[in-house]
Amino acid sequence: MDAPGFDTVLVVDFGAQYAQLIARRVREAHVYSEIVPRTTPLAEMLARRPKGIILSGGPASVHVDNAPSIDSRLYEAGVPVLGICYGAQLVAQQLGGEVQRTGGGEYGRTPLHRTGAGSLLFGSLSDEQVVWMSHGDAITGAPEGFRVTATTPGAPVAALEDRDRAVYGVQFHPEVVHTERGQEVLKAFLYDVCGCRPSWTNTSIIEQAVGEIRAQVGSERVLCGLSGGVDSAVAAALVHKAVPDQLTCVFVDTGLMRMGESDQVEDTFRGQFHVDLIHVKASDRFLAALDDVADPERKRKIIGETFIRVFEEVARDVEDARFLVQGTLYPDIVESGGAENATIKSHHNVGGLPDDMQFELVEPLRNLFKDEVRAIGEELGLPEEIVWRQPFPGPGLAVRVAGTITPERLDILRRADAIVVEEIKRAGLYREIWQSFAVLPVVRTVGVMGDDRTYEYPIVVRAVTSDDAMTADWARLPAEVLERIASRIINEVSGVNRVAYDITSKPPGTIEWE
Ligand code: XMP
Repeated sequence: MDAPGFDTVLVVDFGAQYAQLIARRVREAHVYSEIVPRTTPLAEMLARRPKGIILSGGPASVHVDNAPSIDSRLYEAGVPVLGICYGAQLVAQQLGGEVQRTGGGEYGRTPLHRTGAGSLLFGSLSDEQVVWMSHGDAITGAPEGFRVTATTPGAPVAALEDRDRAVYGVQFHPEVVHTERGQEVLKAFLYDVCGCRPSWTNTSIIEQAVGEIRAQVGSERVLCGLSGGVDSAVAAALVHKAVPDQLTCVFVDTGLMRMGESDQVEDTFRGQFHVDLIHVKASDRFLAALDDVADPERKRKIIGETFIRVFEEVARDVEDARFLVQGTLYPDIVESGGAENATIKSHHNVGGLPDDMQFELVEPLRNLFKDEVRAIGEELGLPEEIVWRQPFPGPGLAVRVAGTITPERLDILRRADAIVVEEIKRAGLYREIWQSFAVLPVVRTVGVMGDDRTYEYPIVVRAVTSDDAMTADWARLPAEVLERIASRIINEVSGVNRVAYDITSKPPGTIEWE
């Protein structure tokens, strides 16, 4: 989308992870930023009228064949440029400076020393800083017209600037938290060099989205599927704010939800927001379809198909619905290489609806990062439980009850899971842990309670830290928290006589057990 009315800074992508983090930090400074592929023609970038352009870091060396580059007319375009790490080396190389493999790369925390006074980027920062470095090559000579404004032991040119052309470079990573004053360096670039106004705030994001939704849907009816998760909830709340009387929400209770989740959706959307909510209690139908099915992929397929059928039946009843809300986020679009290719991630999303159900999509979160979605969710008045809910798989508890699913086994798992979540929250760890939950395996184990021998299920507790679910590590939960979880589960959940903690990272394990 364009964000008319907002100053925009473009982040040119030389390595997706680096670019996303920079874009997020720019937005945290309340300036709208968008990531563009480095192959975007310069004219196209300039047509967006950016107030500044940031060249991101990347894994390459400027010396390798086909090293990623950029049209060097950028530096003459009158738009301020900031190169970060690889981006800084590219600036130096393209403008006639020197970049060399010095043999002494720097990785991690590094002391930085300012040289010369009056650097715009460093403003009033003190002469010595701690910055985060990650480079093999180093800039050894600044191009003509540039001043060297900082050095480190392994980088003779750790920062450089040419105020006349408004071209700046830093070898370190201002976007990572380990660079203690990094955000101030970015802000100096945004405010003092580019002259951006800090207008990208929760209130303005909401206003913008509301305006766009109204313009898109006119007076037509809009349908929105709620999953219980944060993305669909915030998308629905935005559409509700924009066109309250035109929104119908559909919540399909598969019977595979966590404890209290379905009541929460009901209380929030019907009770608090007074949304026209169709709550489909389809638990029996899902459980019947899953009867005697143990294979995880078959479970997923059955749940996906059943979901589509149920949703389709409900949607047909809302005859005049022309639009369908989708909670697509910005990283989904960036990763899939552009808005046109935006893929619908979860298998049970309505992307798989039959051809004769043609909806136009409304995607009010398509420009937002997850942290922005949470922030505006809070601003819109959604409860903390929804806004901060950890990710949950589309097939729900079906992939956490290993083997065949019965109402009894689901019940055991749901009650154990609620204890895990409660204790993690009580310990103040819920937000920093990516996912924490219970798993019910197929085996039974022998135990002893009182004078009796028991033969019951174990519960496996799984808690992982992660940034994006692609890799994950097991969370180092304090022993007291584990102990409380274990003793509560054994005391309060009948049918369980043992608790184990999963200490597998991903890879080789996955986050879910199935
Ligand atoms: P794994 O288990 O593959 O999970 O490490 C990675 C992330 O994806 C979630 N997950 C799913 N989400 N449908 C979904 O919508 C699925 O079938 C599914 N399986 C796993 C999982 O919870 C984790 O966040």
